Amino acid sequence: MSLKQQQPPQSAVKIATNDGHGENSPYFDGWKAYDANPFHPQTNPDGVIQMGLAENQLSFDLIQEWIEANLNASICTPEGVSGFKETASFQDYHGLPEFRTAVSNFMNRVWGNRVKFDPDRIVMSGGATGAHETLAFCLADPGEAFLVPTPYYPAFDRDLRWRTGVTLLPVVCESLNNFKITKQALETAYEKANLANVRVKGVLITNPSNPLGTFLDRETLKNVVNFINDKSIHLVCDEIHAGTVTTGDEFVSIAEVIKDHPTCNLDLIHLVYSISKDIGFPGFRVGIVYSYNDRVVSIARKMSSFGLVSTQTQHMLASMLSDYKFVESFISQSRIRLACRHDMFTRGLAQVEIRSLESNAGLFFWMDLRRFLKEPTFESEMTFWRIIINEIKLNVSPGQSFHCSEPGWFRVCFANMDDKTTMVALWRIKSFVRKNRNLEIKTKKQYWQNNQHLRLSSRRLEDILTPHKMSPHSPLASPLVRAQN
Ligand SMILES: Cc1ncc(COP(=O)(O)O)c(C=O)c1O
Repeated sequence: MSLKQQQPPQSAVKIATNDGHGENSPYFDGWKAYDANPFHPQTNPDGVIQMGLAENQLSFDLIQEWIEANLNASICTPEGVSGFKETASFQDYHGLPEFRTAVSNFMNRVWGNRVKFDPDRIVMSGGATGAHETLAFCLADPGEAFLVPTPYYPAFDRDLRWRTGVTLLPVVCESLNNFKITKQALETAYEKANLANVRVKGVLITNPSNPLGTFLDRETLKNVVNFINDKSIHLVCDEIHAGTVTTGDEFVSIAEVIKDHPTCNLDLIHLVYSISKDIGFPGFRVGIVYSYNDRVVSIARKMSSFGLVSTQTQHMLASMLSDYKFVESFISQSRIRLACRHDMFTRGLAQVEIRSLESNAGLFFWMDLRRFLKEPTFESEMTFWRIIINEIKLNVSPGQSFHCSEPGWFRVCFANMDDKTTMVALWRIKSFVRKNRNLEIKTKKQYWQNNQHLRLSSRRLEDILTPHKMSPHSPLASPLVRAQN
């Protein structure tokens, strides 16, 4: 591990005033377009629909029910006020022991109880955002690099690079093999860095992937673990969407792979988690660094002084996440609802022959609009993205903001809106496609011949749902959906 605090620091003002935050990118431009003209069914029905925000808002009724039934979990109710003084005055940066225990138990459950997380390795941070920055500070010096498979979550450029001076280098993954992370791609990226005299300190993977909505198979994870061990570099594994995998039993965590790996150097393995996605609380800013390296745990804990989770939040979550019955039911209900919404969207798009990468995780899917681009270039992608924002009035995020190597892919977030808004979004896309058939540059036949590997993602609904398991809140149960389909 490198901790070269002796190096002369970069000017703090220069760091603060440069544009490393990444606000000036199409990813954030889409948010601005939404902010300037937000859709509202009654007051602004022609406004922009926000589909660029990976939020999980489908199960808030379950949370609300729990809160109403557990008033003592809040220190601001007559039932809970006796805990106010102790909670408000607690300031240990290790965090409340009951919080760390509850979080590790929750993680055990989300990961299917196939691994056991140790509460003493749980370090708090301000969301996964803070966790990534903390790890970057712990593991690399300015100018050193992490390899990151593409396409990747745009804010990594801010989280890992901006204040630390660390670099991110792409591991180019391609649609031809469903963006698989291959040994070859890793080796190529590593060699490129060597040629450019950049020292690689680690690999950063996101499993499940944002933006792909897919998760890695065991073989791929083993390859990555072998790769980082061979090179003696770190592996940071972001698993913040683990609980959104709709085929929960199939998800393999890095924690499982290293448990069965005879020669893995555990000091190289670090996990990032948060409750922003699986529970849908990005506003709580609860992130976790979970490192198998004792020194990293200790240093990250000291650094966490800058991103502690409020004790009030810890107190409430300790209570909620220790309620095993609730956790069990929440996770399974949430998975079902996500699957239904995903399916509703991808089926709707399939009616106008818009396909997406087959996926069953995350709060988004990866939509293939390559056939709508005038030319296979990123300029054409931007031109088409402007049409989507300005004419169809949907904020979906263009692939180039995820460093995708092929133009024409867009990330669609599907869990941050209600059923009616979903139907409006689908209706807008369908009408646009039907009105603009001439925009499509390839004939259907040619397109499908070139893309036989892309299958309809909606197939998965039958795989995971049986009628008796369908939630009464399922969007598929809604009369509106039935009418439209
Ligand atoms: C892969 C990934 N990592 C980290 C984050 C940041 O999460 P948080 O809200 O916990 O900071 C996100 C948010 O979208 C994400 O998708």
